[in-house]
Amino acid sequence: MSAKNWDRVPIDAQSIEAPLSLAAVFLVVTVGGDQAALSKISAVLAGLDDLVKTVGFRDLSGRLSCIAGIGRELWDRLHLDGRPAELKPFAPIQGPVHAAPATPGDLLFHIRAERADLCFELERILLDSLGDSVTVADEVSGFRYFDARDLLGFVDGTANPTGLDLPASALVGGEDAAFAGGSYVVVQKYLHDMAAWAKTPTHLQEEIIGRTKIDNIELDDDAAPRKSHKTLTTITDDGGNELDILRDNMPFGRPGQKEFGTYFIGYSRYLWVIEKMLQRMYVGEPPGAYDRLLDFSTPQTGTTFFAPSRPTLQALLHDAQGTPADG
Ligand code: HEM
Repeated sequence: MSAKNWDRVPIDAQSIEAPLSLAAVFLVVTVGGDQAALSKISAVLAGLDDLVKTVGFRDLSGRLSCIAGIGRELWDRLHLDGRPAELKPFAPIQGPVHAAPATPGDLLFHIRAERADLCFELERILLDSLGDSVTVADEVSGFRYFDARDLLGFVDGTANPTGLDLPASALVGGEDAAFAGGSYVVVQKYLHDMAAWAKTPTHLQEEIIGRTKIDNIELDDDAAPRKSHKTLTTITDDGGNELDILRDNMPFGRPGQKEFGTYFIGYSRYLWVIEKMLQRMYVGEPPGAYDRLLDFSTPQTGTTFFAPSRPTLQALLHDAQGTPADG
């Protein structure tokens, strides 16, 4: 679907290129062990497109979208035809100081809209349909914070790919033709130590992120002994070309509980690109020179999924379960 249609008709399910939004829900669930649970979730996934229409059509300018991602174990349990070449569970990382844990999750629903009520309504009906076939592992409601800043005060998302670079970075291509148009999705829920961050002078915060705080200008730290977050997460292939991912991080929090967080979500054509970013952040480059963002941000979750394109998802479910596939 092209961008110009987004205000005229609902956004197809599985539209990774759907616009970054003012509100989002990140819902991760595990699926029960019996066949009835598998049949139920297959039917709900097959009907996801209709559900987005049901809720999204009520305010098209709200641009409701929903992407479902499937984890490696569930993929095998559903006996889906073939498997995306790189799909595997999130690999935990132990760095010299900080660790990235792997946490359970069979299905991810990434719900985005310009209105929090649209996200809420879709999630409510979705969970109602899934019933006791699933258990909620994690649920986060994120919000856009001023000019797309994270709660640390930096503009987050600037270096995202745009135009033709977006599908080229985020969507599987001819290298895995059966799953072309889909995307590997990695999520991590981070909590921030706001008190420690507030005590860190702004020039040091800027060195850690790799951009200026107020006006978001990129800093050149190629010669610095300690690389910034933006430099550690810049990955190049053997030919020196940069490999981007699509990020749609969202702040979340409950000030009354002293909870302040960033929900990281990255979509990538190649899972290894996100894995390499994480290695460089946690282990460091050179090893030991880890990402100092982690001194102030601790991951609570870490899970990997594959989000097939809408036609691929419909075909997979149809072949596996004999569920009706419309579209
Ligand atoms: C606490 C969690 C995180 C926060 C608050 C955060 C924040 C930021 C900020 C402020 C920037 C600079 C502006 C921009 O280009 O977006 C940035 C860049 C970036 N981050 Fe993160 N980030 C987090 C976690 C991660 C993780 C886990 C990854 C990858 C696994 C990642 C990958 C990237 C990439 C690829 C860039 C762009 C680098 C470039 O300039 O090419 N981030 N992040």
